[in-house]
Amino acid sequence: MTFVSSRLKHSLSQFSTSLACVIACISFLAPLPALASPLVLKFSHVVAEETPKGQAALEFKRLVESRSKGKVKVEVYPESVLYKDKEELEALQLGAVHILAPSLAKFGQLGIRDFEVFDIPYLFTNPQTLSEVVNGEIGRGLLNQLGERGIKGLAFWDNGPKVISSNNPVRLPSDLKGKRFRIQPSRTLEAQVEELGATPIAMPFSEVYEALESGFVDSTENPPSNFYSRKMYKVQRYLTVTNHGHLGYAVIVNKKFWENLPRDTRELLEACLKASTVKNNEISAKMNQDAMNEIRKRKLAQVIDLTPEQLMAWKTKLQPVRRKSETWIDEDLIEKVRRTDARHSPSLK
Ligand code: SIN
Repeated sequence: MTFVSSRLKHSLSQFSTSLACVIACISFLAPLPALASPLVLKFSHVVAEETPKGQAALEFKRLVESRSKGKVKVEVYPESVLYKDKEELEALQLGAVHILAPSLAKFGQLGIRDFEVFDIPYLFTNPQTLSEVVNGEIGRGLLNQLGERGIKGLAFWDNGPKVISSNNPVRLPSDLKGKRFRIQPSRTLEAQVEELGATPIAMPFSEVYEALESGFVDSTENPPSNFYSRKMYKVQRYLTVTNHGHLGYAVIVNKKFWENLPRDTRELLEACLKASTVKNNEISAKMNQDAMNEIRKRKLAQVIDLTPEQLMAWKTKLQPVRRKSETWIDEDLIEKVRRTDARHSPSLK
């Protein structure tokens, strides 16, 4: 990347962060409409219904509507039918939509980069690390940071480990050299792809299929459930089981809207969210495994399982990303996660 384009990119990213702050201020000041009856909550997301997030959103709707006896309705809008990635965050800040569950890699767009700790390659090597981080003090600290953007963070939902898809067989990091690789808008994912010698191209999830189909990008990453439900196998021939990173979500609402709800409604929503979170985390591993089984069984893409030596080559190649990301992610936060992981996977540290 040239100096000029990198400066331009930096300015654009600063502009976009400032815009997020301006929107947050407007949403703090804007009057709230009176609560209608029934109360209708719009829940927007960008993936298919047959994904862990899609199913958990429907479970939330089912629970809320039955437990509130129809006093609260939840309208779920999947697959970006309402908004794309960045638009949905802006819409939430402005109160045009009530609930979202964006992937953790997307909060950097609001100028909150600490969520990108989940993007650091091979930092979470044990599922217990993830569970302890999101359910403990670290997770609470992250969700609290959203308050300064007019957002209330309510829960974390898991999806699963990411695999890499491509049209050339990828076994070693060098197989991605010179390729154009779609990422979510995260500086950490950008650093990861640059480390591989590929070009990171950030774009919303809703545009990925067409970008792969047209050849605008060559390769991408996602858990198998997203790859399978979005039928990316129609435009990608290989799937490499790198498990190099993690995809998860934060369930969020407009803070002012939330605080304006009657206490019993908030409590009901919280209880339903707790139950949907359990459901999400129960089904996510299975849905990813089922997707992978289908891909293998029906030979939808050629699955490449790495040998221990190849896996080590990925870990070694991506090791510098952790240090680089200390420039934009709180260093202590990274260290806390590393120590948590070391407790759960002592032999790997
Ligand atoms: C999602 O799972 O919400 C989308 C992830 C992506 O943008 O790749």
